[in-house]
Amino acid sequence: MSSMTLGINFTYIISAIMFIIGLKMLSSPATARRGNLLSAAGMLLAIVVCLMNAGLDYKWILVGMAIGTVIGLIAAYKVEMTSMPEMVALFNGFGGISSLLLAWSEYHQHPELSVFLAVVTFLSAFIGGVTFSGSMIAFGKLAEKIPSKAVVFTGQHIVNALILLVAVGSGIMFAMNSADNYTLFLVVVGVSLIFGVTSVIPIGGADMPVVISLLNSYSGIAACAAGFVVNNTLLIVAGALVGASGIILTKIMCKAMNRSLSNVLFSGFGAKPQAKGAAGPQGEIRPATAEDVYYILEAADTVAIVPGYGLAVAQAQHVVCELGELLEKNGTEVMYAIHPVAGRMPGHMNVLLAEANVPYDQLVEMDDINPKMETVDVCVVIGANDVVNPAAIDDESSPIYGMPIIETHRAKTVIVLKRSMNPGFAGIQNALFFNENTRMYFGDAKVAIQALVAEFKSGD
Ligand code: TAP
Repeated sequence: MSSMTLGINFTYIISAIMFIIGLKMLSSPATARRGNLLSAAGMLLAIVVCLMNAGLDYKWILVGMAIGTVIGLIAAYKVEMTSMPEMVALFNGFGGISSLLLAWSEYHQHPELSVFLAVVTFLSAFIGGVTFSGSMIAFGKLAEKIPSKAVVFTGQHIVNALILLVAVGSGIMFAMNSADNYTLFLVVVGVSLIFGVTSVIPIGGADMPVVISLLNSYSGIAACAAGFVVNNTLLIVAGALVGASGIILTKIMCKAMNRSLSNVLFSGFGAKPQAKGAAGPQGEIRPATAEDVYYILEAADTVAIVPGYGLAVAQAQHVVCELGELLEKNGTEVMYAIHPVAGRMPGHMNVLLAEANVPYDQLVEMDDINPKMETVDVCVVIGANDVVNPAAIDDESSPIYGMPIIETHRAKTVIVLKRSMNPGFAGIQNALFFNENTRMYFGDAKVAIQALVAEFKSGD
């Protein structure tokens, strides 16, 4: 091994270590930004060193990098926080198609592959293709470019199983003789694109964040296989890291919704229209004005703010943080109770609150706040619905039965801030809204919290 190759491999190990430490740092809001930077620096190092490989045509690499940088920058600046899952879906898709194209180009140049190389070429192309077309469907559903409902039909699982069988069969034949099987490779590419579509259409828009996390894992596995194709150690390690972390995240999300992965992938959840507003628990609601809510909060010793998807939609995080500060000034203990699947992407609420500089030590996880819920004077539920729905505990017929929730109904008083009585993501009504200790404070989260802040300021 030349000293140049040794140097390159050594730098790859440094990059891999930077990725792993960066990933670890992402697990806490206090270190997440630095973790992201560290991983990005590791990637920069890896790219620079990779470009030192002999025989590269820099002209095309620079053109590709320039186009990618411009598109990436514009997209990242323009994307709304609530559209982040769509952006991740696109990125996963691009990762998948890169692996497919890499495998294709390598095979095109060297069609006589050993069995091992043929297998990894097949895996890189097949998983990459599934990731690409599946991610495009996930993107379309989330962005509502195509209907987000689950598309189910009789015999769907059999059709999918047959497509998979064709893919595996083609893969085996390809591995046995890659040199004379260019057409078979094209079949694998075509089947992979079809399978990505057929395996994602039966999944409802509501479950797309889980699918995206799973596709993220696939993109990692495809990249890992591509790493073997081009014999690049770092691509193998980075792909394996993405593959593993994507599957761990998928598992965490499923657990937080109390659903199995197979239920998410195969049950067609959301295919049947869910009952809107009128169905489910009914009763008297107790509306409150900004002034009413102000008096309740002003007298409270402990307040737990429970944010949900509506907080992200309204972009109310800054004004909520201001309300928290005013409450603290008033001598109230303030906490932010975070549900793991509140919002539409993992860590959605943590990211929003961090953006508004809410102190990390005020964030309390669901499992930590529930045991002391009886001691909380007021829970202010802001744009959250399913994650505080007691049906998850006491209604076995509910689609969300068994999902862990933040048990706000056990607090002394609950204020629910939303615009209407419309249901949330799961499409079901919430008995919490009709409880005797619940007051409904209707309005857009940002406008309504601004009104509360104004009450506090004029009350000073
Ligand atoms: P949801 O149950 O979706 O409820 C959000 C509520 O926000 C709605 O009821 C809506 O009521 C209200 N809202 C919307 N815009 C608002 C605005 N501008 N101002 C005030 N309120 C507004 O949200 P959640 O409680 O956060 O639960 C998340 C759901 O997503 C769960 O069912 C979870 O399983 C699912 N999910 C999450 C993830 C991840 S990773 N987070 C992944 C997959 C699925 P109005 O229309 O009446 O205002």
